[in-house]
Amino acid sequence: MQKTLIWADDCLRLLDQTKLPDQTEYITCTEYRRVAEAIRRLEVRGAPAIGAAAAFGLVLGAREAAAEAGEFWNMLWAMAAELRGTRPTAVNLFWAIDRMLAVASRYKDPLDKIAMLSALETEAVAISREDAEVNQRISINGTALFTDKLSILTHCNAGALATVALGTALGVIRQAWSEGKISRVFADETRPLLQGARLTAWELLQEGIPTTLITDNMAGWVMKKRMVDAVIVGADRITLNGDVANKIGTYSVAVLAKEHNIPFYVAAPVSTFDFSLRSGDDIIIEERSSREVTSFAGINTAPRGVEVFNPAFDVTPNSLVTAIITEYGVIKPSYIEAINKLKELKGGE
Ligand code: MRU
Repeated sequence: MQKTLIWADDCLRLLDQTKLPDQTEYITCTEYRRVAEAIRRLEVRGAPAIGAAAAFGLVLGAREAAAEAGEFWNMLWAMAAELRGTRPTAVNLFWAIDRMLAVASRYKDPLDKIAMLSALETEAVAISREDAEVNQRISINGTALFTDKLSILTHCNAGALATVALGTALGVIRQAWSEGKISRVFADETRPLLQGARLTAWELLQEGIPTTLITDNMAGWVMKKRMVDAVIVGADRITLNGDVANKIGTYSVAVLAKEHNIPFYVAAPVSTFDFSLRSGDDIIIEERSSREVTSFAGINTAPRGVEVFNPAFDVTPNSLVTAIITEYGVIKPSYIEAINKLKELKGGE
């Protein structure tokens, strides 16, 4: 399993996911701006991985600010704002930055830069270590749902590449495979940026898991042909009522699963829950460049000037979600009650 991010020798190395599956190259970030750019360009992507990368971005930023003559705290705040501005939908980004700023503020009055820098590094390392542990727990909790050997469909990439290790949806698949509970995985290619084809299929093949790549518009047909027993996807943000934002196309898969009476599972850490939002209607959906839709590998596939709508995510309503697999256990409807309990649990920690 290739590491998505490595913190060593005072720099952050990120596996450049735009180059996969053909090249495994790491980008070396020594400045927070390079981390912000990597998030924006999807060189690092996937909700938990974005959060961990931003945390290390702030470690780099705090070091840069400490070396400058300007007002340290204002500079740090501006850097955090820049990192926050990279992508709007995955809440893990904001969760990680808030966590880092809460640590930094402990050393603000009186200002102790040396202690703050060290504490920020410790916190970023903790965020990434915890993510690896959380994935392990999600994998075990999710696998317990399966009694038979199943054929699973997944959308986008919620694997090791989208997290610090193992993955959420792919973590469950990895664990279930190791327990002999998986017969095959169908990976949706995931237009327009092909995270399913380039990343998920790549990860699964490395594990030796039988994988079939399909284009997004084939999902309904494989369900109709009874080739799929369950769907598992990750999430970028889950609201208090259990609505789930995830990669564009997830909603269509959930509708299809409902029509074919196939369970639709979401695997996500508690850091992906946004306890401040009541429903998916409140989630900001990122819209990306029209070029992602009008071209393929640099070649035009649509007439110049055509209007394009390119939302990177959609929201699946809670009514289509069979269960949400978290590190604390599996949540089933009614979600409002269960998610409020999760909120209380986190608040009490
Ligand atoms: O645009 P991306 O590639 O960052 O979108 C990623 C997804 O939608 C994932 O499914 C989600 O972040 C969950 S990752 C564990």
